[in-house]
Amino acid sequence: MDNSHFYIHNRRYLGNKKKLLDHIIKLVDAKTSFYNTFLDIFSGTGVVASQFNQKNVKIITNDILTSNYVIHKTFFGIRKKPKNIEKKIDMLNSISPANENYFSRNFGNTYFSKKTAKKIGDIRDTIDKISESEVEKNILITSLIYAFDKIANTVGHYDAYREVKSYNDNIYLKMPVIDFKLNQKNIAYCQDANALSKKVKSDIVYIDPPYNSRQYSDAYHLLENIVNWDKPLVYGKARKLDRSHIKSKYCTKDAPIVFAELINNLDTKHIIVSYNNTDNSKHGRSNAKISFSQIKNILMKKGETEINQIDFKAFTTGKSKTENHKEILFYCKVK
Ligand SMILES: C[S@@+](CC[C@H](N)C(=O)[O-])C[C@H]1O[C@@H](n2cnc3c(N)ncnc32)[C@H](O)[C@@H]1O
Repeated sequence: MDNSHFYIHNRRYLGNKKKLLDHIIKLVDAKTSFYNTFLDIFSGTGVVASQFNQKNVKIITNDILTSNYVIHKTFFGIRKKPKNIEKKIDMLNSISPANENYFSRNFGNTYFSKKTAKKIGDIRDTIDKISESEVEKNILITSLIYAFDKIANTVGHYDAYREVKSYNDNIYLKMPVIDFKLNQKNIAYCQDANALSKKVKSDIVYIDPPYNSRQYSDAYHLLENIVNWDKPLVYGKARKLDRSHIKSKYCTKDAPIVFAELINNLDTKHIIVSYNNTDNSKHGRSNAKISFSQIKNILMKKGETEINQIDFKAFTTGKSKTENHKEILFYCKVK
């Protein structure tokens, strides 16, 4: 890859399944002979869906966060490269703002230096001015998100920033690598998974919800802020916006109920569920809201269910490593 492009997986995201892709593909190959549609209903980064974005397969992505939705629309929804998009990216890279703006006032010397925060705010305002279509805007915003993720003063999420003396100011926007010809039929949604499950049908459904009390909206509020860009009030040390509309029930005690409802709603032939055994970790926030046996019992009602265990290094943020971390892939052949 040259230095002017980036791929969908070039991003830090809690619980992303980059390391699990080969196992998921192997399982799908072993269990299915033919499929037309693949629904990744808690898509996150979209790396799992991207593996199934093939000729004659329609992928359907979904996530409650608008920032993920924009990224999915960029990688899976664009059918033709917009003219002059690289020139617009070059133009954004050449911005060198002098004045304060919404972003620098709220985020300067937190996740970014004052200087870079000014640049990010100015780039985001300029994107609104120069985008001639939604497609262009999606590409430019996606490019900005991936660019600031590379230099953000964080451990990969925006729950907190580190106290540092110097920042990385090398923010550099690139062009996403998009396979335009594969994107003819795909659809992206930004909905609560349970609501969507009543409306769509798919041959295969991959399910990877959050399993503990950590809300993704808390971890990625800054991306939501950049994408929606209505310059809301932010508060607290982490400078978070109001997130009441993007809280997930999967991070609450209701998780087993909503999970059962989701599985019950699905109109599909094959279900794959990702799960990991972080139960009983020392950190309360990491404890699973749905137990292994609850998932197993719910799936068994839907069809013949198999359990595949994969040994893995913890997918945690580093501090709270669970010993003998195991990723589990449930497979359910729907009755
Ligand atoms: C474990 S992550 C998925 C990671 C993804 N498989 C990947 O490889 O990047 C769970 C995702 O579910 C989303 N989410 C949480 N609650 C949701 C809901 N009720 N409906 C739709 N998406 C939800 C979160 O925003 C998060 O991106």
